[in-house]
Amino acid sequence: MVTVRDLRESEEPITMLTAYDAPTATIADEAGVDVILVGDSVGNVTLGYETTIPVTVEDMVRHTDAVTRAAEGALVVADMPFLSYGADEAESIKNAGRLLKEAGAAAVKLESGPHTVGLTRRMVELGIPVMAHLGLTPQHVNQYGGYPRQGTDQESAERILELAKSHEDAGAFSLVLEHVPSNVAREVTDALEIPTVGIGAGPGCDGQVLVFDDAVGLSEWTPSFSEQFGDVRGEMEKAVDDYVSAVESGEFPAKEHSHEASDLDSLY
Ligand code: KIV
Repeated sequence: MVTVRDLRESEEPITMLTAYDAPTATIADEAGVDVILVGDSVGNVTLGYETTIPVTVEDMVRHTDAVTRAAEGALVVADMPFLSYGADEAESIKNAGRLLKEAGAAAVKLESGPHTVGLTRRMVELGIPVMAHLGLTPQHVNQYGGYPRQGTDQESAERILELAKSHEDAGAFSLVLEHVPSNVAREVTDALEIPTVGIGAGPGCDGQVLVFDDAVGLSEWTPSFSEQFGDVRGEMEKAVDDYVSAVESGEFPAKEHSHEASDLDSLY
C-alpha cells in the first residue's frame, strides 16, 4: 500500500488518476497507479452536473467508499467538495474526518488558498494528511467565469509560489498544480521539498494526474492539456450498437444463452 511517506520519498515520477467507482479504481490500482484521487470532478464527469459546485460530502463519502473497497495498492485521496471546508474549522475537520473514518480515504485534497493554510496545519496536527491544490481551482469557476489558466503574470505566479511554500510549511504532503505555465510549475517544484503533481502544468512536476475518463477516451470533451490513451467511448458505443442490432435481429439471445426445464407439462 502506497503511503504519503512513500510519495514524499519517491524518486520515480508519481502517477495519479481519478476514479469514482470500484471498477475504474480496480483498473487504476492493478495498473500500478500510485495515487487514486476521488476528485470532486465526479460532479461533472459522472453525476452529470455542469461544474463541481453541487457535489456534497455525501457524494464524496459514497464514491470514496466504493474506491477504497476496490483499491489494494494505491493511496486513495478524497477531494473535499465546495464549501465543505474553509468557512468553519470544526465543520471542515468533521467533514474531512468522515472521508477518512467512514469512507476509508488515506488523505484529503483541498483546493487551496490563503484560507486553507491554517486549516491544513490543524488537519495535519490531528492526523489528517492534506494534499494541497493551487493554480486553477475549479471550485472558483463562478469567480473566474470559466476555467482560465493561472499564474500567467508575474504577480499571480509569485502568489502561487508563496502559497505553495506556506502549504508545505503547514504540513501538506504534496501539491497539485493545475493549468499553470510549465516554467511556473518547475519553479514551484524546485522550491519545495514535497512532491508536486501537475495537470496541465508541463513536465517539470514530480508527477502527473489526469481525469480517468479523459485518459482512457471516455469523455465527450477533454481539455487541451489532456491526452487520450485509448478509445473507450468508441468501444462502448460499438458494443451498445451491436447489442441493439443483435436483439432487433433476433440473434441474441441464442441457444447458448438460454435453458429449458423438463417436467413443465402442466404449464401448457
Ligand atoms: O477533481 C479532480 O479531478 C481534480 C484533479 C483534476 C486534480 O481536482
